[in-house]
Amino acid sequence: MRVLGIETSCDETGVAIYDSTAGLLSNQLHSQITTHAHYGGVVPELASRSHMQKTVLLIEAALQESQLRMQDINAIAYTAGPGLVGSLLVGSCIGRSLAFSLNIPSVAINHMEGHLLSPMLEDDPPNFPFVALLVSGGHTQLISATGIGAYTLMGESLDDAAGEAFDKTAKLLGLSYPGGPALSALAKKGLRERFRFPRPMTDRPGFDFSFSGLKTFAANTIYNNHNTLQIRADIARAFEDAVVDTLVIKCRRALNYSGFKSLVLAGGVGSNCLLRRKLKDLMIQRDGKVFYARPEFCTDNGAMIAYTGMMRLQLNGDNPLSITVRPRWPLSELNTL
Ligand code: KG4
Ligand code: ZN
Repeated sequence: MRVLGIETSCDETGVAIYDSTAGLLSNQLHSQITTHAHYGGVVPELASRSHMQKTVLLIEAALQESQLRMQDINAIAYTAGPGLVGSLLVGSCIGRSLAFSLNIPSVAINHMEGHLLSPMLEDDPPNFPFVALLVSGGHTQLISATGIGAYTLMGESLDDAAGEAFDKTAKLLGLSYPGGPALSALAKKGLRERFRFPRPMTDRPGFDFSFSGLKTFAANTIYNNHNTLQIRADIARAFEDAVVDTLVIKCRRALNYSGFKSLVLAGGVGSNCLLRRKLKDLMIQRDGKVFYARPEFCTDNGAMIAYTGMMRLQLNGDNPLSITVRPRWPLSELNTL
């Protein structure tokens, strides 16, 4: 089975073709960073327009790279939520209509399930059950995953998502959007323990997160210190250490609670080197294993949507003709297969 995957939930247009025997044949991406950078964040209307311009071009490029024709595609998977409603509608309408015109099945995919399954694109994929830490620009969630669609939310951010906290703090430090990778690069030049930020909500039981206070802490630290490159790097370092430590503490707690030996790290912040290293150390200590995908499969991409579509179509079959998008779509509401 060959599945075309279409991702248009936010500021990246992703198109991929996944073959159930040969694996990933093409993974095309158009990033809208230059479109939104000037505004310091994603402008929803510009995002939808860009998806309109790029999606069909990327489908053509994916077919060309795979040396396939449209008729060689057996099914289409498209992101139907969560995300920006206008952007979701672009990919969903193109995906569903194309499937209708070709008389092939299509399936509406939950973007966060795409992230969650993305490490399965790699050679050494995780097996269920596992704890998943989903850390993106819009979500920070700890999930207990026991099968495809069998996801229980253990905890989540009560305010800013981890990626959002990275982006907002980066902005305070004068770094351009999207700030996560830039802040992380600056932190590498920072001194450890020059500043110490709190580890929010680690002093009480539970699996929830709260990152918005760290941004305020960063704002106050910037205000109270000289504005030199070294000080900014030291603040970036203290911020990154605090976010990563907090995520690691909560993962440890979730693993203790569930008794699972595998941990999956996914979502854009999952490409953060420090987080990857610290979770690897944690799992070595626990005689378990952490699974994460290569960085380009951590941030938004079409490959994870094509793969999730293939899993769902193999297990469940077609979706109805109607096109429905869900700007909010909790993982716990997915069909269990
Ligand atoms: O999953 P993703 O590509 O899009 C959403 O679904 O939100 O995640 C994007 C987020 C942004 O907030 C970005 O700053 C953050 O992931 N991010 C990082 C890194 N790479 C991307 N945050 C910290 N360190 C990184 N290396
Ligand atoms: Zn995402």
